[in-house]
Amino acid sequence: MIIKLIKEAYPLDLLLEADPSELLVKQYLEQGECYVAEQDEEIVGVFVLLPTKSGTVELINIAVAEQHQGKGIGKLLVMDAIKKARQQGYDTIEVGTGNSSIGQLALYQKCGFRITGIDKDFFTINYAEEIVEDGIACVDMIRLSQQL
Ligand code: COA
Repeated sequence: MIIKLIKEAYPLDLLLEADPSELLVKQYLEQGECYVAEQDEEIVGVFVLLPTKSGTVELINIAVAEQHQGKGIGKLLVMDAIKKARQQGYDTIEVGTGNSSIGQLALYQKCGFRITGIDKDFFTINYAEEIVEDGIACVDMIRLSQQL
């Protein structure tokens, strides 16, 4: 598998798996760096790194194609994002996910992130459609970060 930076032909379908707002996805693609993971010339995963405040970068979107999930690719991508952020000289990497995203919360903590805060009602305020995962309403954003 190779992970490479792309500047065009973004895998929008995959990016929308992690963030259902096409408007938000397009906005952060303009300011962030989009990396894709390729296996046998097929895009199997994607992540975006977006500089936010000074010294800080956010892992803003990460997704693995459904048929390739559960095989360790997500963990590999999160670890690669952390490595790239460190190599680029950032001192902090952040990530945010919904209160209902149990698997994602497990993944980020297994990759060294610690919970730093809760952005209350983030999803009710910013998303028009109601989001429900595993019977849990997605209303708050759990913020996680790690020092590099
Ligand atoms: N409880 C406990 N651990 C869980 C879990 C759960 N419900 N769901 C996943 N995990 C763990 C796995 O066991 C694995 O840990 P391990 O290596 O110690 O076994 C780890 O999380 C990651 O698994 P991995 O196979 O690397 O993940 P993946 O390739 O399936 O990718 C996502 C994970 C989240 C990127 C993928 O599911 C995805 O693309 N989802 C849709 C988009 C999305 O929600 N993006 C995130 C937005 S915040």
